[in-house]
Amino acid sequence: MELLARTLFLCFTFTLTYGAPSPPHDAATEDVDAALPDRCGGLEFDAITPDEKGMTFFFKGSHLWKGFTGPAQLSNESFRELDDIHHIGHVDAAFRMHNPENTDDHDHIYFFLDDKVFSYYNHTLEEGYPKEIHLDFPGIPTHLDAAVECPKAECGADSVLFFKGNDVHVYDISTKTVKTKVWPHLPVCTAAFHWLEHYYCFHGHNFTRFHPLTGEVSGSYPKDARNYFMICPNFGHGDRSKVLKCSDVKLDAITSDDEGKTYFFAGPMFMRLDSRRDGLHAFPITRTWREMTSGVNAVFSYTDKMYMIKGDQVYIFKGGAHYTLISGYPKTLKEELSIEGPVDAAFVCPDEHTVNIIQGERILYVDLTATPRAVTFNLTMPVNNIDAARCGSDGIELFMGSKFFKYLDVATLTMTRLRPMPLSITSEMMGCQD
Ligand SMILES: *[C@@H]1O[C@H](CO)[C@@H](O)[C@H](O)[C@H]1NC(C)=O
Ligand SMILES: *[C@@H]1O[C@H](CO)[C@@H](O)[C@H](O)[C@H]1NC(C)=O
Ligand SMILES: *[C@@H]1O[C@H](CO)[C@@H](O)[C@H](O)[C@H]1NC(C)=O
Ligand SMILES: *[C@@H]1O[C@H](CO)[C@@H](O)[C@H](O)[C@H]1NC(C)=O
Repeated sequence: MELLARTLFLCFTFTLTYGAPSPPHDAATEDVDAALPDRCGGLEFDAITPDEKGMTFFFKGSHLWKGFTGPAQLSNESFRELDDIHHIGHVDAAFRMHNPENTDDHDHIYFFLDDKVFSYYNHTLEEGYPKEIHLDFPGIPTHLDAAVECPKAECGADSVLFFKGNDVHVYDISTKTVKTKVWPHLPVCTAAFHWLEHYYCFHGHNFTRFHPLTGEVSGSYPKDARNYFMICPNFGHGDRSKVLKCSDVKLDAITSDDEGKTYFFAGPMFMRLDSRRDGLHAFPITRTWREMTSGVNAVFSYTDKMYMIKGDQVYIFKGGAHYTLISGYPKTLKEELSIEGPVDAAFVCPDEHTVNIIQGERILYVDLTATPRAVTFNLTMPVNNIDAARCGSDGIELFMGSKFFKYLDVATLTMTRLRPMPLSITSEMMGCQD
């Protein structure tokens, strides 16, 4: 576990790979077609964009890669018309439109080649395309270097950032106006990409994270893209390219916070499930909750705080831009919740002030507004060996290995002796492989 946590510390992201380690990668056994470009060799991408399903495409010359693992393939197999019409075999820039107010172009992928723009949806070229760039994006120059969408939450208005040299043309989608900024401190970006609230400029085989409004770079950049955005032998998580099967999923904890962000925890990793649109990626827990160096047994959210239980300790983190451990924590379960460990799972239902603690086949209620805390109910459930539990507006989910049970509410869970049919975790839910 220790070694695993250290290996993964560097990772920005990777496909669901926290299962058993795959055998060591031997470069000599790699069957690399000499004609195909190798992104692990260190190349400069022309463009990077997600599609409407959250699959990330990386472009170089006439080839692309789908996702963070796997070989290059011809771009025209996925986007047929790109070189059909142009015969130039590369894209300058690409982005996925974020324009929820207009379903005509929301989630469409836009490609830029010289002075032309192509709009794709469902991997099909839209009627009327390709067009000249100025017809769709007045004021935007031809022969771009990079482009990335910037939703209202980060840019104030739904926008697109177009990069050409050190100039950044900020295009407001609804007003069709352009503001040009110069960011000479930022390397010239040949591709740009956005994942949740983070923005990345790619240059050479490196990338630099920047603030989408100011261009400001904080932290130590550039970093080598091969350690973060792809799975390469001898880089970052290179030896961990096994994709987790849904039937092998085993959660330690799951929770939804006040803002509707849902997190699950398994071993040293966590994943945000509300990020499906941008692609699901697992991260080391310590990247967000620094003190949780050996995983969690149970997690619940209450008000703007996240309670993490490990062994007989409770860690309380305050939410916000970052999670910070509240001073004085961890405390023992006895001190904080008036119970003994271990805890299998815990959840608080929306707008409630009682935490439901699951231990074996028992469920304990602890009122979070009472001091000192006391167990107010101690009941049995019709299920045992629960790994993780969550309560949302749609009821309660109790996870056991790769299965889960759904209950309407806590009363149904404790009053009935019937076990509902177990349901299976799907790739749709957790990004695993069916
Ligand atoms: C894709 O491009 C390759 C190489 O340029 C070409 O040989 C092939 O015929 C193209 N395929 C399609 C479907 O256009
Ligand atoms: C997407 O394209 C596929 C094949 O190209 C087609 O079968 C499917 O109906 C399309 N889906 C939508 C929503 O247009
Ligand atoms: C990539 O970044 C490293 C520093 O992390 C730097 O030493 C190297 O020169 C950069 N390489 C390229 C091709 O930009
Ligand atoms: C809950 O009830 C069971 C059975 O009566 C008992 O063994 C257990 O100690 C109780 N737990 C708590 C925390 O009160």
